[in-house]
Amino acid sequence: MKARNRHELSAEQKEFVRNVVSDPVLFATHILGISLWDREAEILQSIRTNRRTAVKACHGVGKTFTLAVAALWWLARYPEGIVLTTSPTRRQGRTQLWSEIHRAVERARVPYPPLKTTELKFRDDNNFAIGFSTNQAENFQGYHGKYVLIIADEAPGIESGIWDAVAGTMAGGTVHIVMAGNPTVPSGAFFDAFTKERGLWNCFTIDAFDSPNLKGLGLEQQPVLRIGCHAFWPGFQIKRRTHSSKWSGSNASKECAPKPD
Ligand SMILES: Nc1ncnc2c1ncn2[C@@H]1O[C@H](COP(=O)(O)OP(=O)(O)O)[C@@H](O)[C@H]1O
Ligand SMILES: [Mg+2]
Repeated sequence: MKARNRHELSAEQKEFVRNVVSDPVLFATHILGISLWDREAEILQSIRTNRRTAVKACHGVGKTFTLAVAALWWLARYPEGIVLTTSPTRRQGRTQLWSEIHRAVERARVPYPPLKTTELKFRDDNNFAIGFSTNQAENFQGYHGKYVLIIADEAPGIESGIWDAVAGTMAGGTVHIVMAGNPTVPSGAFFDAFTKERGLWNCFTIDAFDSPNLKGLGLEQQPVLRIGCHAFWPGFQIKRRTHSSKWSGSNASKECAPKPD
């Protein structure tokens, strides 16, 4: 039997790497060094399994963070994998989703190639993530027959034109889409995913009080809570929620309100 080179992985190590790369939660834990909370892990497993995943929740529960992990996992999982990200404005894409991608890469336990502001080439030119703003719909075309993950953050604010381009991209190959947002607009593709197109989408509604940051707190406790650099006021949100649109469903009293200005 041929002696194993000391840099070569053993059969067990190779099996471990295969398992880690095929599972976004193991990937987050072992490659990115991240601890996910339950709903973040469930959303990642849904992105892995389902063609369409939609997540609605108030601000600060980890939606964008989870999308950033999904982008990095997809690149690692599929050697020809492509990730297309979009947000309502270029600035939002840069300061939110791509800022989380940059942070995750900086903290990862394996070295990553250098990133551009909203672009990461992983293995080679066929394996990349790139961010577009919502008025660049044409950029969503031309990715048929590949492994494509489309990520739409702050989805209620995304211009309608982009969804036709997205539908075109979804026509062939292995194409999964995930959209996330705060349910502030009772119309559009994001709203439809939770209503008339509900059968097509695997939908998540995250109750703010499920988040580890708020778990166990009653409504009477209205502290200013901080998650990372974000602060929000649950009591204020709950009050506002009762005056805003009701489309977010039965948990309406607890969930999802516009962020305080
Ligand atoms: N599992 C986690 N581990 C560490 N930080 C997290 C985790 N989930 C979320 N965060 C941090 O919490 C903050 C809020 O998350 P974010 O994804 O921006 O929420 P949302 O998109 O729902 O408004 C961010 O600073 C993010 O980095
Ligand atoms: Mg966000």
